[in-house]
Amino acid sequence: APVMAGRDFLSNLDMTASELRAVMDTAHSMKRGEWRGVKPLAGLSLALVFEKSSLRTRTTFDVGMYQLGGHAITLSNTEIGLGTRERVSDVARNLERWVDGVMGRVYLQQTLHELADHAAIPVINGLSDMLHPAQLLADYQTIEEEFGTDLRGRRVVYIGDGNNLANSHIHMGILTGSDVTIVTPVGYEPNAGVLMDAVQQGTRITLTHDLAAIEGADVLYTDVWISMGMEAEADIRRRAFQGYQVTPGMLDTLAPDGIFLHCLPAHYGEETVPEATEHPKSRVFDQAENRLHAQKALLYHLLGGAEPRW
Ligand code: CP
Ligand code: NVA
Repeated sequence: APVMAGRDFLSNLDMTASELRAVMDTAHSMKRGEWRGVKPLAGLSLALVFEKSSLRTRTTFDVGMYQLGGHAITLSNTEIGLGTRERVSDVARNLERWVDGVMGRVYLQQTLHELADHAAIPVINGLSDMLHPAQLLADYQTIEEEFGTDLRGRRVVYIGDGNNLANSHIHMGILTGSDVTIVTPVGYEPNAGVLMDAVQQGTRITLTHDLAAIEGADVLYTDVWISMGMEAEADIRRRAFQGYQVTPGMLDTLAPDGIFLHCLPAHYGEETVPEATEHPKSRVFDQAENRLHAQKALLYHLLGGAEPRW
C-alpha cells in the first residue's frame, strides 16, 4: 500500500527512514519487473513544470506515469511563465483542479513551497537551487544494488560544488546512516541550513577541502561545477575548482568494490572526463536508468489510491 499518499516531496527529509525503505523496496521490485502490467495510477495525471532544461527528469517522470497507467503533461516556462505571466499561487490553484500531482523543476526552492501551499495535490521537487531529492532516490537505489540495504557506515564521498546535489546527499546521510563526506574548494561548502538539519538529527557529516578524503571511499560522486543558472560565474568557478576533477586515477584509489556516480549531465573537461564515465567502477548509466524505477516507486507511494477525477 502507498506509504506517503497525498503528501508533498520537496526534500528527502519529507520522508522518514522507514518510508524511504518502502519506496526503495518498491523501486527494486519495479526494476525486477514485478509490476509489469500493473496500473495503480490509471486515470491520474501529473503536470511536469520546467523553469530549466532536462533530459532525465522529464523523460523518466513522463515514462513512469505512462507505465503505471497514468498520464503526464509537460509545461515549459515559456508556456507558464511561473511568477511572471501568472502568480505561482494562481498556477497552483489552477493545476489542482485538473491534475493529481505536480512535479516542478525550478530556480528557487521557495517556488515549490508556494506551489505546495496553494495546491492540495502532491508537489514533487524535480530539482531546485537547494535540493534534488528525486535524483538521490535513484542514486541510493544504485548504491543499494552494489552494497545492499544496510548502508550504515558506508563511505559516500561527494566532491565538487556544495550545490543542490551535495545538500541532498547530506539529507540521505541523515536518513540512511551512510557516512557522508563533502569535499569542496573553500567558499563552496553546502547550504548552512542543510548542515543544521544534520546537526539537529545528530548525524555527523564530514566537510573538507582535502582530496585525501576520497581514498578508500565506497561511493565517489560528483556533479557539475556550474549549475543551471550559474553561467555568469563560469570563469571564477572553473578557476576555484581546479584540482577537483574526478579522473580514472582517482577512481583507482576507491575501495576495491567502490563505485563512481554522476547525476549527469557531465561537463567533460571540468568536474570529470569521459574516461571516468567509462571506468569499470562507473555505474553512471545504471544510475540514470534508476531514475525511472525510483520515481515510479515515488509516484506510486504519493499518488497511489487517489480517486481519478473522471
Ligand atoms: N540528473 C538530472 O536531473 O538530469 P536532467 O537535468 O537531464 O533532468
Ligand atoms: N547541479 C546541477 C544538477 C543538474 C541535474 C544543476 O542544478 O544544474
